[in-house]
Amino acid sequence: MSGATLQVDVWRGTDTGHFQAFALPRREHQTVLDVVTEIQREHDATLSYRFACRVGMCGSCAMVVNGRPRWTCRTRVKDVIDDSERLRLEPLRNFAVVKDLAVEMTQFFDKWKDAQGYFEPGKQPQADFAVVPPATAQRQAADAGIECIGCGVCYSACDVVAWDQDYLGPAALNRAWTLINDVRDEGHDARLDAVSASNGCQACHTHMSCTKFCPKTIAPTYSITGLKRAVLRRSLRGVL
Ligand code: FES
Repeated sequence: MSGATLQVDVWRGTDTGHFQAFALPRREHQTVLDVVTEIQREHDATLSYRFACRVGMCGSCAMVVNGRPRWTCRTRVKDVIDDSERLRLEPLRNFAVVKDLAVEMTQFFDKWKDAQGYFEPGKQPQADFAVVPPATAQRQAADAGIECIGCGVCYSACDVVAWDQDYLGPAALNRAWTLINDVRDEGHDARLDAVSASNGCQACHTHMSCTKFCPKTIAPTYSITGLKRAVLRRSLRGVL
């Protein structure tokens, strides 16, 4: 390890651009985010990228690392390089590129709104805290998806988003599913309307890339399947 050199190819530009090569010292426990930060501080101060927490909380540091979307602050270099000692860093796919490794997230978060991915307390919200027993099926379904940090890794990995930019995507649909299982929420009907449109849960092809790559080990595919079931149950209630 001592004296070894890491070769790093970094995307420069916007939707058009080129890879720029950097050579950095290889260090024992360096993360991919450490590498990007070192490039910006020591080699080229014009390199654009995002991070905030450095501890896997904020979701802002995601990039494509050697062909696969990842959170970079929790990804060690040694876990993603092979014998070639080479890193290839690109902005997340399925997002417009602002510059270099920074992408435009507006459409991604607009889709959370489109999926009614916000708590709806109803006209007369309870004044007191609701007691929701942890062992209930609904609580467990909500808890399984609630730790999403909005990093965009699932959205970047999703083939359906790549084909259809209108598709709401795994993160927004996962958020909708946590709210469908929130017993305090009063917006279920409007939310099921939103997610059952042609750009909603039925468009998922169950490729499971979102579930495979989510750094928080959330399974958006299962959340989307749950939404499909909920939409079907509601439509059957109308005809039976
Ligand atoms: Fe916050 Fe990586 S910097 S999740």
